[in-house]
Parts: sequence; structure tokens; C-alpha cells
Amino acid sequence: MSAPDPAARSLDVDAVMAQLTLEEKVSLASGADFWRTQAVERLGVPSVMVTDGPHGLRKQAGASDHVGLHDSVPATCFPPAAGLASTWDVDLLRRVGVALGDECRAEEVAVLLGPGVNMKRTPLCGRDFEYFSEDPLLAGELAAALVQGVQSRGVGTSLKHFAANNQETERMSVSVEVDERTLREIYLPAFERVVTRAQPWTVMCSYNRVNGVYASQDPWLLTRVLRADWGFEGLVVSDWGAVDERWRAVAAGLDLEMPSSGGTGEASIRTALEGGSLTQAQLDVVVRRNLELLQRVLPALAPGQTFDAGAHHALAREAARQSAVLLANDGVLPLEPASGGRLAVVGEMARSPRYQGAGSSQVSPTRLDDALTALREGTSRDVVFAPGYVTESEEADDALVAEAVEAARSAEVVVLFLGLPASYESEGYDREHLDLPASQVALLEAVRAVNDRVVVVLSNGAAVAVDAWQHHAAALLEGWLLGQAGGAATADLLYGVVSPSGRLAETVPVRLEDTPAFGAFPGDSGVVRYREGLLIGYRWYDTRRAPVSFPFGHGLSYTTFEHSDLSVRASGAGADASVEVALTVTNTGSRAGAEVVQVYAAPQDASVFRPEQELVGFARVELEPGASAPVSLVLSARDLGHWSEVHRRWVLESGRYEVRVGASSRDVRQRAVVEVQGEELVVPLSPQSEAGTWLEHPVVGPRLREQLGDAAAMLDDPQHGQMMRAIPLVRLTRFPGFPVREEDLPGMAEEAGASVGPA
Ligand code: BGC
Repeated sequence: MSAPDPAARSLDVDAVMAQLTLEEKVSLASGADFWRTQAVERLGVPSVMVTDGPHGLRKQAGASDHVGLHDSVPATCFPPAAGLASTWDVDLLRRVGVALGDECRAEEVAVLLGPGVNMKRTPLCGRDFEYFSEDPLLAGELAAALVQGVQSRGVGTSLKHFAANNQETERMSVSVEVDERTLREIYLPAFERVVTRAQPWTVMCSYNRVNGVYASQDPWLLTRVLRADWGFEGLVVSDWGAVDERWRAVAAGLDLEMPSSGGTGEASIRTALEGGSLTQAQLDVVVRRNLELLQRVLPALAPGQTFDAGAHHALAREAARQSAVLLANDGVLPLEPASGGRLAVVGEMARSPRYQGAGSSQVSPTRLDDALTALREGTSRDVVFAPGYVTESEEADDALVAEAVEAARSAEVVVLFLGLPASYESEGYDREHLDLPASQVALLEAVRAVNDRVVVVLSNGAAVAVDAWQHHAAALLEGWLLGQAGGAATADLLYGVVSPSGRLAETVPVRLEDTPAFGAFPGDSGVVRYREGLLIGYRWYDTRRAPVSFPFGHGLSYTTFEHSDLSVRASGAGADASVEVALTVTNTGSRAGAEVVQVYAAPQDASVFRPEQELVGFARVELEPGASAPVSLVLSARDLGHWSEVHRRWVLESGRYEVRVGASSRDVRQRAVVEVQGEELVVPLSPQSEAGTWLEHPVVGPRLREQLGDAAAMLDDPQHGQMMRAIPLVRLTRFPGFPVREEDLPGMAEEAGASVGPA
């Protein structure tokens, strides 16, 4: 092969595969260092850089680490996923993705290590700020758009952390014990949606074990589900240090171990090849995928590319404006910027913002807005400031509180910035409670005692409990972590430059004790059991009719919206069944704003347990005052179906489904019941199947009934029949005089299977 031409930025995968030595192949399955892949110079195989992610670039030019200890080059810090998810804005996520892609190009980064689509099983997870939602549809839709945006710029993404990485406690070893239906319906679909819609160039496996097997070494996850079921075409990379035994990971389908393991991984592969537990063909598969990734990323890696930091900051501000969620407002907001009495801005976080979370996703921003400066610049009103608390302190500081109270007393309105100190939530550990520091709550009470117009602005990466103090706030703006332009965006929202349009992507619970995983988190003895099963987030609260502080999907605006003219129409059958949902949304207020229409489905006739309702679609609509827009969505069989443990696949049952359309999971504005034609589902039979199940079989059932003759009467008996039908047929055959023989059952079961085709 001729010498590599760097300007060509391409690779002939087949030619390279043909010429690699075994040793070179082994080397390509591991990274070269912390962030770079391995080169094979003689064949023109270059080394490329991958780097964090997800809401900005963390490229370390000097010392390297994967927990955010060392500096990285300046990059735009967009709102982390907790914020971005609250926008429910697919188009915005795509544009943020494009900007991230361009920043990667400018830094010659081949793959951005994100987004993370793990479910928020509990608000205590230290990394919830990096994840989108408690709902897989919402997380998957948004993350797919982000991935499409990044990859449209020729830069790869890494969908992480696959799978069931929902806590930080013992994250590198804990075994998540969870049933397949819960995995398929809750913990996997966001990954599946991104894979099937956007084909991320890489998927990053998680650290934890799933039902006892390390995700990095699990052939079921990495090959069966990811590739065979979903059609993933890219490369699987390990989370940093997630591999236990490299050869097992190769066999399971893990293509690239990161970072370099200092030779341990290579030795493991060599030994396994020699011993015959791994074949060359298996190694070739992962090597080829590494080369294919290079082939994809090389064209974009031209030196000398730049990005427009000003435009990206403006995009970060737009994203931040849409990320904040107005939870409550008695009318105090928006504040009039051009007239009115003094404003007191209270809280250290107004001056020193908390705008992102800690750990591997920590970005060095290109610039940083603070709300205090922006609030001052945005008004002609007199503004006073008092820090009120020391962010990292639990103890109230009497002098700071006294100063804040004086500022509040002299003001017409108080804007009080509260939130979680950085040390409360981070990659690597989980929170212990849902509360704000007591010192901050005490400050709110003190301020409220002298001024009853207190607007609370929160900064936190995951839900905090608000029940104990919410009544003190005339308005409550949930700011999440808003990225580097969050300060200016907050001022835009408070002054009504734009109407708030964020909606909760996670429920705000009343108490920690009410949350779905309470008592089953973080597990012990190396195991965490997902006892709540399908019921996470609103699925839990809504099914149990439990109170919440603010429901999933909730968010106020400065304008109002009306939903009208719902029409719901089912067509097709089985896997081709679909339901068309159409309605009109009208902005009935006097300001421009955006409504997020949410569609939930509630199966009425399910034969298996289903949550009370599930989000099956949404649409964000921007409307000028008085304007209306049509919204239409098509729900597929998959949207309405469930994962059948019996058939080991997604199925759609026939029956009535209530379609609920509204502005949160608890604010249903319109509903309609539709009859859906599902599949002909025939339960496979075995001798152990209950007699009733046999009798219901469309082909074998009637024949069995004939054979039973008079004995059928006892199975049909109005009083005892139910009990009899619940007895496995094989046991009945052993009863004296029963007219069907045990030895005939296997043949009959086989015949039953053949008569209806594959399950
Ligand atoms: C994190 C990943 C991250 C990687 C590289 C790991 O500790 O879990 O999300 O991409 O480090 O920094």
C-alpha cells in the first residue's frame, strides 16, 4: 500500500484489513491513550481523538482525566440535558447538535462522547443533570435530533451509557436486576429510538452489570439487542475503564476499549486467541468496525476550521430561555423592565451561577453570563443585590441574611436565586435527599417575612422538593442548569422579553418517600433491584394516583392556550395499525408563546398490566397572540403496544385506547376513546399451560373441547369452571377418568404452534 496521504482523509477499509498483522489488529481494539485511538502508521491508519460531551466540548489539551479534574479548551457550554429536555424542542436540539459538531471540527475531534439517554429512575441520581427525562419517548426524540445535528457535520456521537446506568453509587460494579419487559419498555427504548432514527456512529456501554453481566461484556445487550434487534451499524466503545476481561468484551461485541489499558486488554485478547476461546474472525469484526469509524470521521478532520463563538453563545441563550420552566406564578411575573420600584436581587447564585454539573461533562465556557449583571442591564429600575448565603454552606450566615432582609424590605419585588451547591450533585455519587440547603430555605422565610412578592429562581440539575417552602414564593422559575448564557436568558424570561416555554421532563415529587425507587435505591450488597418495574416517573405517580408538587409536562407561560377539535381515527390492523390524532391549538392570551401539546395513551382493555398512561407523542407550537395552528400526530402500533413476555417481542393488543391530549400528565384537556385492531395473538401452548388457555386456542381449542365430551361441562361450570380452567392441562390428564391422555399433549401443543405460525 502506498504511503498515507494526510490530505486524502480517507481509508480503504478492505485494503487495510487485508494487510494488518495479527498484532496490529489486536492493538486497534484498544485506545492509544486517554482520548486517542491507535494508529498503524505503515498502513496510513491515523489516530483520532474522541472527547466529552455531551452539552459542550471538553477537549483536554494538557493533562488528561475522565472526571473533569484538568482544564479543557474553551467551548460553548450549552444547557446540560436536564435543561435541553425541558424545551421539548426537537428542532432546537438539532441546531445545538450542529453547533457542537462545528466546535468538534474546529478542535479536530472525531467523536463527541454523548448524548446520555439513561432514564431518571430517581431524582437522587448524581448524573441526572446529564440525562434527559424519566420518559423514554421524550429522551429518545430529543437525543436523536441532537445526534443528527452533530453527525450532519461529519462528527460522530457516542450514545451512552448503554444500559441501565441509573445511579452513580457503585456504578462500576452494581448489578441491576431488572426484568426484560421493564428493560424493553423503559430503560432501552430511548437508545433504540436514537439508533433506529439517527444511527449514532458509536454507542458507549455502561460500567454497571445488568442481571449479573457487565454491560461491556454482555452479548445479549451489545449484539443481540443493539445490532440484531435494532440494526445498529456503528462501533461500541467502552465507558472509560468499563472493561473487566477484554477478550470477553470482544466476543460480546465491544469494539474499542477506552482508554488504553496499558497492555492488559491486548494481552487478554492474545491469550484468548491462543487458547481458542476467541477466534480471529471475532477479532476481525471489531477491527473492521474501528476502521469503518475512521472512514466516517476522517473527512471532517481538516485542520484550520473555526466556529462562530458569538453565534453559539446566542444559540446557548436561546436554548437556555427555552429550558427554564415556570412552575408557578401568581401574576408577579413578568417584571416590567421600564418602570416600577426597586428590585432586590438576592442569592449568591445570581452573581456566581451554577450552570452545569460536575464530572466528565464539565466544559470550560467561552464566556459566562450571570443573572445579576443581566438583570441590571435589562432594566431602568433601581436594582440592589445581596448574596444572602454562602453557596457551599449549610449554615445560615446571620450578617448575610440581615443584609438580604434589608434589601428585600426596601424593594417592590425580590428575585431570590436558590439552588443546589455544586457539591450536591455530580458524576460519581448520588444525592442523599431532595432538599435545598436549610440555610437557603431559612433565607427565603426571612425575606418573605418582609416582602410578599418573592420570585424564586432555582438552579439544580434534578428535581428538588419544594413542598415545604413553595407557598412563600409568588412565582417559581425552575432554571435547571442553564449553561453559559443562562444568566442573560433568566433576565429575558423575568422581564418578559420572551414567555417561558419549558415543560417538565421529570416530575417534581412532594417527598423523597413518594418517589418510585424509594427503598429500592441504591441497593446493597452489589445489587439494585428495580422493584418498581415499569412505573418510573409519572407512570408511577399517575398509576398510583399519588400527589406530586408539579407533574411531568407541566410548565406555565405568560400567555394561555386553548386546545380544541380533537379528532382521533384508527386505521389498519396488527403491526400496521395506526391512530391519527389531530387538534387545534390557539394562543388565547396577549403575548407570543409556545405550547407543548402532549399526547398520552391509556389502554382500556389490556390483558397485561399497563401503566395508567404513557406519553406517545408531543408537538411544540409557537403562536402569536390570537393565532391558531393545527397539530397532527400519527401513533404507530409500537407506540400503543407493549413488550410481551410471552411472545418475546412488541405486540399490539386489540381493544379500546383512550387518547388524552393536554398540557401535562395531569392537565388533560381533551380525550377520546378509539377502537384499535391489534394482532391476532395466540399464546403458545405447552402441556403446562392452563386448561383455559388450551380451550381458547383458535385451532386446537375446539378440538380439545370435542375430546373432552361431558368433561367439558366442569370446565364451563359457572361456579367452579374458573378454578378448573386454571389447572394446567397436564395435571388434569392425570385425574382419574379424564378423557385426554398426557402423552398426547406434546403433539397437540406442537400442532397448535404450527397452526398459527410463529409467535
Ligand atoms: C463517564 C463517561 C465519559 C468518560 C470519558 C466516564 O467516567 O462515565 O460519560 O464519557 O468518562 O470522560
